[in-house]
Amino acid sequence: MTTYARAHTNIALIKYWGKANRKLMLPATSSISLTLNDFYTDTAVTFDPSLNDDRFMLNGEEQNPVAVSRFLDRVRHLGKISTYAQVTSLNHVPTAAGLASSASAFAALATAASRAAGLNLSPTELSRLARRGSGSATRSIFGGAVIWHRGHDDASSFAEPLAIQPSLPLRMLVVTVSAEKKAVSSRKGMANTVATSPYYDAWVASNESLIEPMITALAEDDLALIGKLTELSSMRMHAAIMAEEPPFTYFLPETLRAWQLVQEQRALGIPAFATMDAGPNVKILTTEPYVDILLTALRPVFGDRILSTRLGPDASIITKEQFDD
Ligand code: DP6
Repeated sequence: MTTYARAHTNIALIKYWGKANRKLMLPATSSISLTLNDFYTDTAVTFDPSLNDDRFMLNGEEQNPVAVSRFLDRVRHLGKISTYAQVTSLNHVPTAAGLASSASAFAALATAASRAAGLNLSPTELSRLARRGSGSATRSIFGGAVIWHRGHDDASSFAEPLAIQPSLPLRMLVVTVSAEKKAVSSRKGMANTVATSPYYDAWVASNESLIEPMITALAEDDLALIGKLTELSSMRMHAAIMAEEPPFTYFLPETLRAWQLVQEQRALGIPAFATMDAGPNVKILTTEPYVDILLTALRPVFGDRILSTRLGPDASIITKEQFDD
């Protein structure tokens, strides 16, 4: 029997960057994100007694199954089974956007594999399970605006949808500065910030202090404040990264060009706010009425390297037909 699931990527407004416990994947701070509608991963899982090892296919190509296999060990432990699995994933994320993320991947794998192993986990339990694969996957179990409570142990570190969802028609524009594979992965990058950045403690304290204001700003549809807090969290994270040993940055020249265009638009009264993750691409938060104006402003520099999406739904079990589509 094969089980199919779909999970969407998310972009953090208040970032997760740094682990308090690497083994349990507990973050140093809570984080808040938006789940995106147009970028998602579909995953099929079959526990098959005839297999001698786990197998993992991504976008039609056989992959090294190590990370998937380690994650499945956790699922097998919970489901009290020992069978190996065939895992087949399709990333519905334009690879050029550099968004192919571990968030949608492990949220989809947690949803499909737990069900295939005979478990019927609650959304909270699924979120905790996805966390073991990748921190940002914790949040991709839920749609809309999501908070990941950092917690202090395995049971208390999980995500949930924010109690009051914004009613604003939020949109995210993804500007592809470079489609190359990340120079430094999030996992390695954040470990190096924790180990070597003299700004790390300040980053943790300042980022945690943005959580409550962001919850209020989202509940009150205060776009100017949502945007301000989003830029603060992103820039402070990148400031801590720049101060690492050896010094490092994810910024490319065109990254700054995108930030500058966003600031120019804001000076003209357009609500647009930029954020960046562990790579040079820029995501711009706005609302639906301003998407076309922003596209017009960005196109002379970035051409068709801009995608726009609204907020997406919870991770879910899907049918074979949806998977094959
Ligand atoms: C900058 O979740 O990819 O996107 O937990 O080590 O798998 P691991 O890292 P990952 O890191 C995401 C970092 C970020 C910010 C965020 O999504 O909150």
